Amino acid sequence: MSVNNHGESSNNTDSLDIQTKLDKLIQENNLLKETNKSLQNQFEQIKKEQITYLQNVSHQLVAPLNAMKWHIENLTAARISVERGKKVLRSIYSQATIAVHLAKNFALMSNLEADQTLAAQREPLEAVDLKRLMVNLADDFQPSGWDKSVHVSVIDHPLEEAPSVLAIKNLISQVFSNIIENAIKYSTTDTDIKIYGNYDSDNDTVSVYIANKGISLPSDEIELIFTRGYRSKDATNIYPAGTGFGMYIAKKIIDIHEGNITAFTDKDGFSVFRVTLSVKGLKGKTIQRESKDSTNRR
Ligand SMILES: Nc1ncnc2c1ncn2[C@@H]1O[C@H](COP(=O)(O)OP(=O)(O)OP(=O)(O)O)[C@@H](O)[C@H]1O
Ligand SMILES: [Mg+2]
Repeated sequence: MSVNNHGESSNNTDSLDIQTKLDKLIQENNLLKETNKSLQNQFEQIKKEQITYLQNVSHQLVAPLNAMKWHIENLTAARISVERGKKVLRSIYSQATIAVHLAKNFALMSNLEADQTLAAQREPLEAVDLKRLMVNLADDFQPSGWDKSVHVSVIDHPLEEAPSVLAIKNLISQVFSNIIENAIKYSTTDTDIKIYGNYDSDNDTVSVYIANKGISLPSDEIELIFTRGYRSKDATNIYPAGTGFGMYIAKKIIDIHEGNITAFTDKDGFSVFRVTLSVKGLKGKTIQRESKDSTNRR
């Protein structure tokens, strides 16, 4: 047995060292056990969410498909007049439109959930003229307002003077489509939907506003609107076939564009959705791919 300067045996020091190391190992082991348990819980939670999500998807898709089946049965089984036949065909068309809308939203959402970066979207950033996009979308959506005599109008000035924004055009179109579609769905009959916008030179951003008069937009619901699956009672009553995914998708898309989306009620009682996008200030999180004609777009 060796004795050190202080007269203590080195055997004692060794066993103390070993004890400390052992304690540390036990502590680390406990920590690992805890981490493992928490990861397992998270995994179970994700599994549950995935199952709920799939149940939602199939539930929502079954409704319009069943309706179409029922209409087709009607068409083939009974002897019906041409007028009634046309009506049934129109219903089949609108149910098919709902099914396509749902399928598109589900597909887009899966992509966005998988990877929330611009680069992951595998599409080029390009200069998008928001005024032109709004006019085109307003034209596309006009027919869905006919039943309710709801008209979509784009107020040219001052949006026409705004420069183009840098964005993935398909995704940005999806954002505005979802907002305009809501505006029509939730509008009172015989009202106008107004789309306007402006350029903020200080921040180098363009904002677009979509305003409609219809079901209310309580201020304590604003944050909820952009969460997955949220639908107000009024919205569910008017349009039972919705998913509550439209604004969640819109926010995800705007987030990856480093923009801003919000909603509010203006002084005249219009429900307004505002989207703000950057003209050229994207700060990364993204690898810009060259689009063939991006240089001659602006
Ligand atoms: N223009 C609007 N006026 C009033 N409330 C709105 C308006 N747009 C959206 N909301 C509210 O936000 C909720 C979420 O909208 P979102 O588009 O995500 O889902 P949805 O329209 O209910 O369903 P889906 O888009 O799948 O058909 C709506 O259910 C509604 O409560
Ligand atoms: Mg919607």
